[in-house]
Amino acid sequence: MWCSCRIQVTDTSRLHSLLSNKPFVPTDDELSWLLSQDSFDSFLFKEADAVRQRFYGKQVYLRGLIEFTNYCKNNCLYCGLRAKNSLISRYRLSKEDILSCCAQGYALGYRTFVLQGGEDPFFTDEIIIDIVSSIHKAYPDCAITLSIGEKEKSSYQDFFDAGARRYLLRHETAAPEHYRKLHPTSMSLERRKQCLFDLKAIGYQVGSGFMVGSPYQTVENIIADIRFLQSLQPDMIGIGPYITQSDTPFKDFPNGDFKLTLRLIAVLRLMFPYALIPATTALGTICPEGRELGLKAGANVVMPNLSPVAVRKKYAIYDSKICTGEGSVQCRFCLERRVTNAGYEFSTDIGDVKKH
Ligand code: 5AD
Ligand code: SF4
Ligand code: FES
Repeated sequence: MWCSCRIQVTDTSRLHSLLSNKPFVPTDDELSWLLSQDSFDSFLFKEADAVRQRFYGKQVYLRGLIEFTNYCKNNCLYCGLRAKNSLISRYRLSKEDILSCCAQGYALGYRTFVLQGGEDPFFTDEIIIDIVSSIHKAYPDCAITLSIGEKEKSSYQDFFDAGARRYLLRHETAAPEHYRKLHPTSMSLERRKQCLFDLKAIGYQVGSGFMVGSPYQTVENIIADIRFLQSLQPDMIGIGPYITQSDTPFKDFPNGDFKLTLRLIAVLRLMFPYALIPATTALGTICPEGRELGLKAGANVVMPNLSPVAVRKKYAIYDSKICTGEGSVQCRFCLERRVTNAGYEFSTDIGDVKKH
């Protein structure tokens, strides 16, 4: 009794002194201690929320997500879009389809369009440039975000010149031995990192991130992820729990831990106060209130789906993905309600990163 009481007091004071450090730059030991504690979550989330409100107020930015191709030439072992998954029904949206998603999104108040897809060789640089410049011409007041994987620096430059200003490319894991367990040997962590630094050098607002609880991940791997993010200083940081996909080699691995994901959102908010951090669909998939809790832990972005309902189920990165039966209008109003109920403001602002 006496003993557990002492431990509690010691731990609480350690937490308080740790969080009083501004800027918050924890050591490896401090990080692994903090991530393993589950009794301080509400305090940690409040601190993260206060930091987020200092930089971004109560605003939650919207990104309209257009999943325009589920073809992928790669074979990441965790992902349902992997080329070797023969059980998935493949689709590509045409330029007209994509533009009509944008039109619908614009009418719903979205001022950012995220074009996301697998690494699909059908979409050559010329085609991407054409799509990006058409969206840019039609919606000059909107931000265009690309999330189409690893490309040559010159291609990234061409997309930028066509009007793209943001790019999402999660590094997935920054530990080389862990990277090799998640990817075939044809893929390389060094190349992925190089892409991220190329994107930054060109002038994109860059988003990176990783899955929480991916197979074989250790606390040391997560710390390496955080250290990599410190070296990259990304504008956006996307993390979400790993979720089992039953048609992948990792089908027998369990989902990542929800609480640990929230704790990591809070830690990232404290360490990267300026960052745009989404409450991801994966978070909403493993817990019905996941996105709301993500916002309360420090996230400030939501990414409602703008893809045509007919293709949504086919973008089966992981099992039981939410929003696959709902349309764009439904998701828009569902998320507005969720954001408001969580105590935040649903913002139709373009939502650029604050200076850092
Ligand atoms: N569970 C959770 N996230 C996944 N991703 C891919 N497969 C899974 C999965 N099984 C994530 C990757 C990728 C993003 C588009 O989706 O981090 O970058
Ligand atoms: Fe392709 Fe991306 Fe899935 Fe890897 S994570 S298989 S690159 S869609
Ligand atoms: Fe898509 Fe709620 S956000 S149904």
